[in-house]
Amino acid sequence: MAKYEQLAQELKTRIAQGVWQAGDKLPSLRQTVADSGLSLMTVLNAYQLLESQGVITAQEKSGYLVAPLPETFRYPDRPRQIYLSDKVDINEFVFSVLQASKQAGIVPFGSGFPDPSLFPQQALARSLVKVTRHMSPSFAADNLPPGNAGLRKAISQRYAKLGMSISPDEIIITSGAMEALNLSLATLTQAGDWVVIESPTFYGAMQAIERLKLKAIAVATDPQQGIDLEALAEVLKTYPVKACWLMSQHQNPLGCSLSDTKKQALYQLLNEHKVSLIEDDVYQELYVGSIAPRPVKAFDTEGRVLHCGSFSKSLIAGYRVGWVAAGLHAPKLQRLQVMSTLSTSAPMQLAIADFIQSAQYERHLKQLRKKLADRKLAMYQLLRAHLPESVGVNFAQGGYFLWLALPAHMDATQIYSEAIERGISIAPGNLFSNQVEFRHFMRLNASYECSPEIVSAVVVLAELIRNYSR
Ligand SMILES: Cc1ncc(COP(=O)(O)O)c(C=O)c1O
Repeated sequence: MAKYEQLAQELKTRIAQGVWQAGDKLPSLRQTVADSGLSLMTVLNAYQLLESQGVITAQEKSGYLVAPLPETFRYPDRPRQIYLSDKVDINEFVFSVLQASKQAGIVPFGSGFPDPSLFPQQALARSLVKVTRHMSPSFAADNLPPGNAGLRKAISQRYAKLGMSISPDEIIITSGAMEALNLSLATLTQAGDWVVIESPTFYGAMQAIERLKLKAIAVATDPQQGIDLEALAEVLKTYPVKACWLMSQHQNPLGCSLSDTKKQALYQLLNEHKVSLIEDDVYQELYVGSIAPRPVKAFDTEGRVLHCGSFSKSLIAGYRVGWVAAGLHAPKLQRLQVMSTLSTSAPMQLAIADFIQSAQYERHLKQLRKKLADRKLAMYQLLRAHLPESVGVNFAQGGYFLWLALPAHMDATQIYSEAIERGISIAPGNLFSNQVEFRHFMRLNASYECSPEIVSAVVVLAELIRNYSR
Protein backbone atom coordinates (compact mmCIF):
# COMPACT_ATOMS: atom_id res chain seq x y z
CA MET A 1 0.00 0.00 0.00
CA ALA A 2 1.38 3.47 -0.91
CA LYS A 3 2.02 5.97 1.90
CA TYR A 4 -0.92 8.16 0.92
CA GLU A 5 -3.24 5.12 0.96
CA GLN A 6 -2.00 4.22 4.44
CA LEU A 7 -2.66 7.75 5.65
CA ALA A 8 -6.14 7.74 4.04
CA GLN A 9 -6.85 4.44 5.81
CA GLU A 10 -5.75 5.85 9.18
CA LEU A 11 -7.92 8.93 8.75
CA LYS A 12 -10.87 6.75 7.74
CA THR A 13 -10.43 4.62 10.86
CA ARG A 14 -10.44 7.73 13.05
CA ILE A 15 -13.58 8.98 11.33
CA ALA A 16 -15.22 5.58 11.89
CA GLN A 17 -14.21 5.79 15.58
CA GLY A 18 -15.96 9.17 15.80
CA VAL A 19 -12.80 11.25 16.35
CA TRP A 20 -14.18 13.49 13.59
CA GLN A 21 -17.86 13.31 12.78
CA ALA A 22 -20.10 14.47 9.89
CA GLY A 23 -19.58 18.21 9.36
CA ASP A 24 -16.35 18.36 11.42
CA LYS A 25 -13.30 19.97 9.90
CA LEU A 26 -10.30 17.70 9.36
CA PRO A 27 -6.87 19.07 10.38
CA SER A 28 -5.50 21.30 7.62
CA LEU A 29 -3.02 19.86 5.11
CA ARG A 30 -0.21 21.79 6.82
CA GLN A 31 -1.19 20.48 10.24
CA THR A 32 -1.29 16.88 9.00
CA VAL A 33 2.11 17.34 7.32
CA ALA A 34 3.50 18.55 10.66
CA ASP A 35 1.80 15.73 12.65
CA SER A 36 2.66 12.88 10.32
CA GLY A 37 6.07 13.89 9.00
CA LEU A 38 4.82 13.04 5.47
CA SER A 39 5.25 15.31 2.44
CA LEU A 40 2.57 17.80 1.43
CA MET A 41 2.02 15.82 -1.77
CA THR A 42 1.40 12.57 0.16
CA VAL A 43 -1.07 14.29 2.49
CA LEU A 44 -2.83 15.99 -0.41
CA ASN A 45 -3.13 12.66 -2.25
CA ALA A 46 -4.60 11.04 0.86
CA TYR A 47 -7.19 13.80 1.25
CA GLN A 48 -8.07 13.64 -2.44
CA LEU A 49 -8.49 9.87 -2.20
CA LEU A 50 -10.89 10.28 0.73
CA GLU A 51 -12.74 12.93 -1.25
CA SER A 52 -13.11 10.61 -4.25
CA GLN A 53 -14.51 7.96 -1.89
CA GLY A 54 -17.05 10.47 -0.56
CA VAL A 55 -15.64 10.28 2.99
CA ILE A 56 -14.76 13.99 3.10
CA THR A 57 -15.72 17.02 1.01
CA ALA A 58 -13.58 20.00 0.03
CA GLN A 59 -15.13 23.35 1.01
CA GLU A 60 -13.82 26.59 -0.42
CA LYS A 61 -11.93 28.53 2.26
CA SER A 62 -12.75 26.08 5.08
CA GLY A 63 -10.66 23.07 4.02
CA TYR A 64 -11.92 19.49 4.24
CA LEU A 65 -15.07 18.45 6.13
CA VAL A 66 -16.26 14.95 7.06
CA ALA A 67 -19.13 14.08 4.71
CA PRO A 68 -22.53 12.97 6.04
CA LEU A 69 -22.24 9.29 5.14
CA PRO A 70 -25.43 7.41 4.47
CA GLU A 71 -25.92 4.18 6.39
CA THR A 72 -24.19 1.07 5.09
CA PHE A 73 -26.56 -1.10 3.12
CA ARG A 74 -26.34 -4.86 3.16
CA TYR A 75 -28.68 -7.36 1.59
CA PRO A 76 -31.22 -8.31 4.24
CA ASP A 77 -30.69 -12.01 3.31
CA ARG A 78 -27.47 -13.05 1.65
CA PRO A 79 -28.36 -13.98 -1.93
CA ARG A 80 -27.06 -17.17 -3.51
CA GLN A 81 -23.51 -16.85 -4.76
CA ILE A 82 -24.06 -18.33 -8.20
CA TYR A 83 -27.05 -18.79 -10.52
CA LEU A 84 -26.86 -20.83 -13.70
CA SER A 85 -29.27 -20.12 -16.56
CA ASP A 86 -29.08 -22.19 -19.71
CA LYS A 87 -31.87 -20.08 -21.17
CA VAL A 88 -32.10 -16.36 -20.62
CA ASP A 89 -35.55 -14.90 -21.22
CA ILE A 90 -35.83 -11.22 -20.29
CA ASN A 91 -36.48 -9.34 -23.52
CA GLU A 92 -40.27 -9.07 -23.37
CA PHE A 93 -40.29 -7.76 -19.80
CA VAL A 94 -37.56 -5.18 -20.52
CA PHE A 95 -39.41 -4.04 -23.64
CA SER A 96 -42.71 -3.57 -21.82
CA VAL A 97 -41.11 -1.63 -18.94
CA LEU A 98 -39.19 0.64 -21.32
CA GLN A 99 -42.32 1.31 -23.42
CA ALA A 100 -44.41 2.21 -20.37
CA SER A 101 -41.70 4.55 -19.08
CA LYS A 102 -41.80 6.55 -22.34
CA GLN A 103 -45.25 8.06 -21.67
CA ALA A 104 -45.21 11.85 -21.82
CA GLY A 105 -45.07 13.63 -18.48
CA ILE A 106 -44.06 10.61 -16.45
CA VAL A 107 -41.73 11.16 -13.46
CA PRO A 108 -38.71 9.21 -14.74
CA PHE A 109 -37.37 7.41 -11.64
CA GLY A 110 -37.14 4.27 -13.78
CA SER A 111 -35.09 5.91 -16.53
CA GLY A 112 -31.51 4.83 -17.24
CA PHE A 113 -30.51 8.27 -18.54
CA PRO A 114 -29.51 11.30 -16.50
CA ASP A 115 -31.72 14.41 -16.47
CA PRO A 116 -31.33 15.70 -20.08
CA SER A 117 -31.25 19.31 -18.87
CA LEU A 118 -27.73 18.50 -17.58
CA PHE A 119 -26.48 18.04 -21.14
CA PRO A 120 -24.98 20.89 -23.25
CA GLN A 121 -27.48 20.34 -26.04
CA GLN A 122 -27.16 23.79 -27.65
CA ALA A 123 -23.35 23.78 -27.67
CA LEU A 124 -23.41 20.33 -29.28
CA ALA A 125 -25.90 21.54 -31.87
CA ARG A 126 -23.40 24.29 -32.75
CA SER A 127 -20.65 21.67 -33.14
CA LEU A 128 -22.96 19.61 -35.36
CA VAL A 129 -23.75 22.57 -37.63
CA LYS A 130 -20.07 23.53 -37.85
CA VAL A 131 -18.83 20.04 -38.75
CA THR A 132 -21.55 19.28 -41.26
CA ARG A 133 -20.79 22.56 -43.08
CA HIS A 134 -17.17 21.59 -43.47
CA MET A 135 -17.46 17.86 -44.14
CA SER A 136 -15.21 16.57 -46.94
CA PRO A 137 -16.99 14.98 -49.93
CA SER A 138 -15.56 11.62 -48.86
CA PHE A 139 -16.89 11.86 -45.28
CA ALA A 140 -18.93 8.63 -45.47
CA ALA A 141 -15.91 6.53 -46.44
CA ASP A 142 -13.53 8.41 -44.10
CA ASN A 143 -15.57 7.47 -41.06
CA LEU A 144 -16.11 3.78 -41.75
CA PRO A 145 -14.84 1.28 -39.08
CA PRO A 146 -12.85 1.74 -36.96
CA GLY A 147 -14.44 5.22 -37.06
CA ASN A 148 -13.41 8.86 -37.18
CA ALA A 149 -9.65 9.23 -36.67
CA GLY A 150 -9.95 12.52 -34.73
CA LEU A 151 -12.48 11.05 -32.32
CA ARG A 152 -10.41 7.92 -31.72
CA LYS A 153 -7.37 10.09 -31.04
CA ALA A 154 -9.33 12.28 -28.62
CA ILE A 155 -10.58 9.17 -26.74
CA SER A 156 -7.06 7.78 -26.61
CA GLN A 157 -5.90 11.11 -25.10
CA ARG A 158 -8.55 10.84 -22.41
CA TYR A 159 -7.20 7.38 -21.53
CA ALA A 160 -3.73 8.98 -21.36
CA LYS A 161 -5.07 11.41 -18.73
CA LEU A 162 -5.87 8.35 -16.62
CA GLY A 163 -2.29 7.16 -17.08
CA MET A 164 -3.40 4.47 -19.56
CA SER A 165 -1.72 3.88 -22.84
CA ILE A 166 -4.42 2.91 -25.36
CA SER A 167 -3.59 3.34 -29.03
CA PRO A 168 -6.27 4.90 -31.30
CA ASP A 169 -5.76 1.74 -33.42
CA GLU A 170 -7.50 -0.47 -30.86
CA ILE A 171 -10.46 1.92 -30.49
CA ILE A 172 -13.59 1.30 -32.56
CA ILE A 173 -16.39 3.86 -32.62
CA THR A 174 -19.85 2.33 -32.22
CA SER A 175 -23.52 3.33 -32.11
CA GLY A 176 -23.57 3.79 -28.34
CA ALA A 177 -22.06 1.41 -25.82
CA MET A 178 -24.87 -1.02 -26.56
CA GLU A 179 -23.33 -1.82 -29.95
CA ALA A 180 -19.83 -1.93 -28.42
CA LEU A 181 -20.99 -4.47 -25.80
CA ASN A 182 -22.97 -6.60 -28.25
CA LEU A 183 -20.10 -6.73 -30.76
CA SER A 184 -17.69 -7.59 -27.94
CA LEU A 185 -19.86 -10.51 -26.85
CA ALA A 186 -20.30 -11.73 -30.43
CA THR A 187 -16.51 -11.51 -30.92
CA LEU A 188 -15.79 -13.76 -27.94
CA THR A 189 -18.56 -16.38 -28.07
CA GLN A 190 -20.59 -18.86 -30.07
CA ALA A 191 -24.13 -20.09 -29.34
CA GLY A 192 -24.18 -22.37 -26.28
CA ASP A 193 -21.10 -20.85 -24.57
CA TRP A 194 -21.08 -19.86 -20.88
CA VAL A 195 -20.76 -16.17 -20.00
CA VAL A 196 -20.27 -14.75 -16.49
CA ILE A 197 -22.41 -11.78 -15.51
CA GLU A 198 -23.09 -10.01 -12.21
CA SER A 199 -26.14 -10.62 -10.06
CA PRO A 200 -27.92 -8.23 -10.31
CA THR A 201 -26.77 -6.96 -13.70
CA PHE A 202 -27.66 -4.39 -16.35
CA TYR A 203 -30.54 -5.92 -18.35
CA GLY A 204 -28.70 -5.17 -21.63
CA ALA A 205 -26.22 -7.94 -20.73
CA MET A 206 -29.04 -10.47 -20.43
CA GLN A 207 -30.69 -9.27 -23.64
CA ALA A 208 -27.40 -9.75 -25.53
CA ILE A 209 -26.99 -13.24 -24.03
CA GLU A 210 -30.56 -14.13 -25.00
CA ARG A 211 -30.09 -12.88 -28.55
CA LEU A 212 -26.83 -14.81 -29.07
CA LYS A 213 -28.29 -17.98 -27.44
CA LEU A 214 -25.60 -18.11 -24.77
CA LYS A 215 -25.78 -19.48 -21.23
CA ALA A 216 -25.35 -17.22 -18.21
CA ILE A 217 -23.61 -17.70 -14.87
CA ALA A 218 -24.65 -14.88 -12.56
CA VAL A 219 -22.21 -14.25 -9.71
CA ALA A 220 -23.33 -12.54 -6.48
CA THR A 221 -22.46 -8.83 -6.44
CA ASP A 222 -22.46 -6.90 -3.19
CA PRO A 223 -24.13 -3.47 -3.24
CA GLN A 224 -21.00 -1.89 -1.70
CA GLN A 225 -18.06 -4.20 -2.50
CA GLY A 226 -19.04 -5.45 -5.98
CA ILE A 227 -18.58 -8.91 -7.44
CA ASP A 228 -17.68 -11.84 -5.14
CA LEU A 229 -14.22 -12.86 -6.36
CA GLU A 230 -14.20 -16.14 -4.44
CA ALA A 231 -17.41 -17.22 -6.14
CA LEU A 232 -16.00 -16.08 -9.48
CA ALA A 233 -12.83 -18.12 -8.91
CA GLU A 234 -14.98 -21.23 -8.25
CA VAL A 235 -16.96 -20.64 -11.42
CA LEU A 236 -13.82 -20.22 -13.52
CA LYS A 237 -12.45 -23.50 -12.15
CA THR A 238 -15.67 -25.38 -12.84
CA TYR A 239 -17.05 -24.08 -16.16
CA PRO A 240 -15.50 -23.46 -19.58
CA VAL A 241 -16.34 -19.74 -19.43
CA LYS A 242 -15.79 -17.83 -22.69
CA ALA A 243 -16.31 -14.26 -21.47
CA CYS A 244 -17.03 -12.22 -18.39
CA TRP A 245 -19.23 -9.10 -18.74
CA LEU A 246 -19.29 -6.71 -15.80
CA MET A 247 -19.08 -3.14 -14.56
CA SER A 248 -16.20 -2.22 -12.27
CA GLN A 249 -17.37 1.38 -11.72
CA HIS A 250 -20.80 2.74 -10.75
CA GLN A 251 -22.45 -0.59 -11.40
CA ASN A 252 -25.96 -0.57 -12.82
CA PRO A 253 -28.25 -1.10 -10.88
CA LEU A 254 -26.29 -1.14 -7.56
CA GLY A 255 -24.07 1.93 -8.02
CA CYS A 256 -21.01 0.30 -6.39
CA SER A 257 -17.40 0.48 -7.65
CA LEU A 258 -14.47 -1.91 -7.10
CA SER A 259 -11.36 -0.73 -5.28
CA ASP A 260 -8.11 -0.63 -7.29
CA THR A 261 -6.88 -3.69 -5.41
CA LYS A 262 -10.00 -5.62 -6.33
CA LYS A 263 -9.84 -4.48 -9.96
CA GLN A 264 -6.30 -5.79 -10.18
CA ALA A 265 -7.20 -9.07 -8.47
CA LEU A 266 -10.14 -9.51 -10.85
CA TYR A 267 -7.89 -8.99 -13.85
CA GLN A 268 -5.32 -11.48 -12.55
CA LEU A 269 -7.99 -14.09 -11.91
CA LEU A 270 -9.46 -13.76 -15.40
CA ASN A 271 -6.02 -13.69 -16.96
CA GLU A 272 -5.02 -16.93 -15.18
CA HIS A 273 -8.01 -18.61 -16.83
CA LYS A 274 -7.44 -16.81 -20.15
CA VAL A 275 -10.96 -15.37 -20.01
CA SER A 276 -11.56 -12.02 -21.72
CA LEU A 277 -13.41 -9.27 -19.91
CA ILE A 278 -16.11 -7.09 -21.44
CA GLU A 279 -15.91 -4.07 -19.16
CA ASP A 280 -19.04 -1.93 -19.38
CA ASP A 281 -17.86 1.48 -18.19
CA VAL A 282 -20.54 3.88 -19.41
CA TYR A 283 -20.56 5.87 -16.15
CA GLN A 284 -16.77 6.25 -16.02
CA GLU A 285 -16.85 10.06 -16.06
CA LEU A 286 -19.44 10.33 -13.28
CA TYR A 287 -17.12 9.94 -10.30
CA VAL A 288 -17.01 12.07 -7.17
CA GLY A 289 -13.99 14.14 -6.09
CA SER A 290 -10.88 15.16 -7.96
CA ILE A 291 -9.24 11.79 -8.74
CA ALA A 292 -10.58 9.94 -11.77
CA PRO A 293 -10.76 6.22 -10.98
CA ARG A 294 -9.22 3.84 -13.49
CA PRO A 295 -11.02 0.84 -14.97
CA VAL A 296 -9.86 -2.81 -14.90
CA LYS A 297 -8.53 -2.13 -18.40
CA ALA A 298 -5.74 -0.08 -16.71
CA PHE A 299 -4.30 -3.38 -15.37
CA ASP A 300 -4.55 -5.21 -18.69
CA THR A 301 -1.13 -6.34 -19.87
CA GLU A 302 -2.36 -8.86 -22.47
CA GLY A 303 -5.00 -6.92 -24.44
CA ARG A 304 -7.67 -9.17 -22.92
CA VAL A 305 -10.08 -6.44 -21.75
CA LEU A 306 -12.65 -4.94 -24.12
CA HIS A 307 -13.36 -1.61 -22.48
CA CYS A 308 -16.74 -0.19 -23.59
CA GLY A 309 -17.52 3.50 -23.13
CA SER A 310 -20.21 5.93 -24.20
CA PHE A 311 -21.10 9.60 -24.46
CA SER A 312 -24.78 8.80 -23.72
CA LYS A 313 -24.48 9.28 -19.95
CA SER A 314 -21.86 11.99 -19.68
CA LEU A 315 -22.40 14.25 -22.69
CA ILE A 316 -25.56 13.64 -24.69
CA ALA A 317 -28.08 10.82 -24.94
CA GLY A 318 -29.53 10.12 -28.34
CA TYR A 319 -26.51 10.94 -30.51
CA ARG A 320 -25.71 7.24 -30.13
CA VAL A 321 -21.93 7.44 -30.02
CA GLY A 322 -19.85 5.03 -27.96
CA TRP A 323 -16.66 3.04 -28.40
CA VAL A 324 -14.74 -0.03 -27.46
CA ALA A 325 -11.02 -0.25 -26.76
CA ALA A 326 -10.87 -3.87 -27.84
CA GLY A 327 -7.20 -4.83 -27.34
CA LEU A 328 -6.35 -8.12 -29.07
CA HIS A 329 -9.89 -8.42 -30.34
CA ALA A 330 -10.03 -5.16 -32.32
CA PRO A 331 -9.51 -6.67 -35.81
CA LYS A 332 -12.28 -9.30 -35.45
CA LEU A 333 -14.68 -6.84 -33.82
CA GLN A 334 -14.33 -4.33 -36.69
CA ARG A 335 -15.19 -7.00 -39.19
CA LEU A 336 -18.32 -7.91 -37.25
CA GLN A 337 -19.33 -4.26 -37.23
CA VAL A 338 -18.98 -4.03 -41.00
CA MET A 339 -21.26 -7.08 -41.28
CA SER A 340 -23.91 -5.63 -38.99
CA THR A 341 -24.42 -1.85 -38.78
CA LEU A 342 -21.55 -0.94 -41.15
CA SER A 343 -20.64 2.22 -39.21
CA THR A 344 -21.68 4.88 -36.72
CA SER A 345 -23.34 8.00 -38.16
CA ALA A 346 -20.49 10.20 -39.49
CA PRO A 347 -21.96 13.65 -38.57
CA MET A 348 -22.51 12.48 -34.97
CA GLN A 349 -18.94 11.20 -34.70
CA LEU A 350 -17.59 14.50 -36.06
CA ALA A 351 -19.77 16.66 -33.78
CA ILE A 352 -18.69 14.77 -30.67
CA ALA A 353 -15.03 14.89 -31.75
CA ASP A 354 -15.32 18.66 -32.18
CA PHE A 355 -16.90 19.16 -28.76
CA ILE A 356 -14.67 16.93 -26.68
CA GLN A 357 -11.51 18.47 -28.10
CA SER A 358 -12.60 21.89 -26.83
CA ALA A 359 -12.20 23.19 -23.27
CA GLN A 360 -16.01 23.09 -22.96
CA TYR A 361 -15.98 19.34 -22.36
CA GLU A 362 -13.92 19.39 -19.17
CA ARG A 363 -15.96 22.34 -17.89
CA HIS A 364 -19.19 20.49 -18.59
CA LEU A 365 -17.97 17.30 -16.90
CA LYS A 366 -16.94 19.16 -13.74
CA GLN A 367 -20.36 20.77 -13.42
CA LEU A 368 -22.14 17.53 -14.24
CA ARG A 369 -20.24 15.55 -11.57
CA LYS A 370 -20.95 18.16 -8.92
CA LYS A 371 -24.67 18.42 -9.76
CA LEU A 372 -25.14 14.64 -9.87
CA ALA A 373 -23.36 14.15 -6.54
CA ASP A 374 -25.49 16.86 -4.88
CA ARG A 375 -28.73 15.58 -6.37
CA LYS A 376 -28.05 11.97 -5.47
CA LEU A 377 -27.39 12.84 -1.84
CA ALA A 378 -30.50 15.07 -1.73
CA MET A 379 -32.64 12.28 -3.23
CA TYR A 380 -31.21 9.80 -0.73
CA GLN A 381 -32.14 12.11 2.14
CA LEU A 382 -35.59 12.70 0.68
CA LEU A 383 -36.22 8.97 0.39
CA ARG A 384 -34.97 8.35 3.91
CA ALA A 385 -37.33 11.04 5.20
CA HIS A 386 -40.40 9.48 3.55
CA LEU A 387 -39.86 5.74 3.19
CA PRO A 388 -40.64 3.35 6.02
CA GLU A 389 -37.57 2.16 7.95
CA SER A 390 -38.13 -1.36 6.62
CA VAL A 391 -36.94 -0.16 3.19
CA GLY A 392 -33.16 -0.17 2.75
CA VAL A 393 -31.57 2.38 0.40
CA ASN A 394 -28.11 1.62 -0.99
CA PHE A 395 -25.96 4.69 -1.45
CA ALA A 396 -22.66 4.34 -3.32
CA GLN A 397 -20.53 7.25 -4.48
CA GLY A 398 -20.77 8.30 -8.13
CA GLY A 399 -23.27 7.76 -10.93
CA TYR A 400 -26.94 8.49 -10.26
CA PHE A 401 -28.69 5.29 -9.18
CA LEU A 402 -30.09 4.31 -5.80
CA TRP A 403 -30.97 0.66 -5.13
CA LEU A 404 -33.86 0.01 -2.76
CA ALA A 405 -34.57 -3.19 -0.83
CA LEU A 406 -38.25 -3.56 0.09
CA PRO A 407 -39.39 -6.09 2.69
CA ALA A 408 -39.01 -9.61 1.29
CA HIS A 409 -42.74 -10.35 0.86
CA MET A 410 -43.20 -7.42 -1.53
CA ASP A 411 -43.18 -7.46 -5.30
CA ALA A 412 -41.67 -4.36 -6.91
CA THR A 413 -43.35 -5.25 -10.23
CA GLN A 414 -46.70 -4.64 -8.57
CA ILE A 415 -45.48 -1.31 -7.16
CA TYR A 416 -44.22 -0.52 -10.66
CA SER A 417 -47.70 -1.09 -12.20
CA GLU A 418 -49.41 1.03 -9.56
CA ALA A 419 -46.76 3.77 -9.81
CA ILE A 420 -47.13 3.94 -13.61
CA GLU A 421 -50.87 4.56 -13.13
CA ARG A 422 -49.97 7.46 -10.84
CA GLY A 423 -47.55 8.91 -13.47
CA ILE A 424 -44.28 7.64 -11.93
CA SER A 425 -41.87 5.11 -13.41
CA ILE A 426 -39.48 2.94 -11.41
CA ALA A 427 -37.14 0.12 -12.50
CA PRO A 428 -38.31 -3.07 -10.71
CA GLY A 429 -35.63 -5.51 -9.51
CA ASN A 430 -36.77 -8.29 -11.88
CA LEU A 431 -35.30 -6.26 -14.75
CA PHE A 432 -31.82 -6.97 -13.46
CA SER A 433 -31.86 -10.74 -13.09
CA ASN A 434 -33.01 -13.86 -14.89
CA GLN A 435 -34.19 -15.20 -11.50
CA VAL A 436 -36.79 -13.84 -9.10
CA GLU A 437 -34.32 -13.08 -6.30
CA PHE A 438 -34.53 -9.30 -6.81
CA ARG A 439 -38.32 -9.23 -6.99
CA HIS A 440 -38.50 -7.01 -3.91
CA PHE A 441 -35.87 -4.50 -5.08
CA MET A 442 -36.06 -1.42 -7.27
CA ARG A 443 -33.64 1.02 -8.87
CA LEU A 444 -34.36 4.74 -8.79
CA ASN A 445 -32.82 7.48 -10.93
CA ALA A 446 -31.48 10.23 -8.65
CA SER A 447 -30.22 12.65 -11.32
CA TYR A 448 -33.18 15.04 -11.08
CA GLU A 449 -33.33 18.13 -8.91
CA CYS A 450 -35.57 17.71 -5.86
CA SER A 451 -38.30 20.00 -7.29
CA PRO A 452 -41.81 20.05 -5.76
CA GLU A 453 -42.86 17.54 -8.47
CA ILE A 454 -40.09 15.11 -7.51
CA VAL A 455 -40.87 15.50 -3.80
CA SER A 456 -44.58 14.73 -4.46
CA ALA A 457 -43.59 11.68 -6.51
CA VAL A 458 -41.45 10.38 -3.64
CA VAL A 459 -44.36 10.90 -1.26
CA VAL A 460 -46.68 8.91 -3.58
CA LEU A 461 -44.13 6.13 -3.95
CA ALA A 462 -43.68 5.91 -0.18
CA GLU A 463 -47.46 5.73 0.20
CA LEU A 464 -47.71 2.88 -2.35
CA ILE A 465 -45.04 0.97 -0.47
CA ARG A 466 -46.72 1.58 2.89
CA ASN A 467 -50.12 0.51 1.57
CA TYR A 468 -48.63 -2.66 0.13
CA SER A 469 -47.18 -3.59 3.49
CA ARG A 470 -50.58 -3.36 5.20
C1 LIG B 1 -24.86 -0.10 -17.78
C2 LIG B 1 -25.18 0.35 -19.15
N1 LIG B 1 -24.45 -0.08 -20.18
C3 LIG B 1 -24.72 0.31 -21.43
C4 LIG B 1 -25.76 1.16 -21.71
C5 LIG B 1 -26.02 1.56 -23.13
O1 LIG B 1 -25.36 2.77 -23.42
P1 LIG B 1 -25.57 3.52 -24.81
O2 LIG B 1 -26.74 4.44 -24.65
O3 LIG B 1 -24.30 4.25 -25.03
O4 LIG B 1 -25.81 2.48 -25.84
C6 LIG B 1 -26.57 1.61 -20.68
C7 LIG B 1 -27.71 2.49 -20.96
O5 LIG B 1 -28.69 2.56 -20.23
C8 LIG B 1 -26.25 1.21 -19.36
O6 LIG B 1 -26.96 1.63 -18.30
